[in-house]
Amino acid sequence: MAEEFLVVKDLHKSFNEFKAVNGVSFSIEKGEIFGLLGPNGAGKTTTIRMLSTVLGADSGDATIGGHSIRRDAEAVRRIIGVCPQDLALYEDLSALDNMVFFGRMAGLNGDEARAQAMTNLELMGLEDRARGKVAKFSGGMKRRINLAIALMGNPQLLFLDEPTVGIDPQSRNHIYENILGLQKKGMTILYTTHYMEEADRLCQRVAIMDGGQIITLDTPYKLKSQIGSPEQVTMEDVFLKLTGRSLRD
Ligand SMILES: Nc1ncnc2c1ncn2[C@@H]1O[C@H](COP(=O)(O)OP(=O)(O)OP(=O)(O)O)[C@@H](O)[C@H]1O
Ligand SMILES: [Mg+2]
Repeated sequence: MAEEFLVVKDLHKSFNEFKAVNGVSFSIEKGEIFGLLGPNGAGKTTTIRMLSTVLGADSGDATIGGHSIRRDAEAVRRIIGVCPQDLALYEDLSALDNMVFFGRMAGLNGDEARAQAMTNLELMGLEDRARGKVAKFSGGMKRRINLAIALMGNPQLLFLDEPTVGIDPQSRNHIYENILGLQKKGMTILYTTHYMEEADRLCQRVAIMDGGQIITLDTPYKLKSQIGSPEQVTMEDVFLKLTGRSLRD
């Protein structure tokens, strides 16, 4: 039986009366890329914010590498990396200085931060642009820097919140390659997207969220098999079948 690296139990979060996350449970195996899918407002980012200890849960709990997000947030923070949905970059700084800054925030000393920054820039294929100002970068390059920053501190689990939103297919493919490379190195990844085909391609298992709840969870192949021939059915079709709505509504 594979080791479960992240275990989520019945998480809830309301904003005023509105239930943004309404009883979410799932687990992710070590080394797995797990997709959290769903339309705008489904509760994906709120779930990630709770799991990454940025936002307190109303109830429920989760453990990451055996550490509780409620009781042991410090230990959790040491083993996770977060690539936020909204780019978190200093436009006026170089790629390298951004990386070093976030490395220092993750607790690295200057030498460690510089060394890891160069390693991670190389991993993203951006070592040539290390000294370039982020303001001059394309959208795809900024996304890759955002991802490289999440790797500072050598996390064991990565939260990738819509890492390919708003970029062209070529940059997207580049990011897919980067993510698969991270998995090969043993990283466990929680990946959110509302591009269903992306999850189909990258994720071993996916959970589809809607209205703050997980409405189904399985391998993309099994989900598609439930409604037809997996070669012909898309994950979009699965969502439509389950909710009666198109994802793009
Ligand atoms: N700080 C907040 N205060 C009030 N409402 C919030 C807050 N954060 C999120 N919400 C609401 O909770 C719901 C879930 O938001 P969330 O950002 O988790 O969705 P999402 O699945 O990440 O959507 P998207 O695909 O657009 O990123 C939305 O209706 C959102 O408006
Ligand atoms: Mg979101």
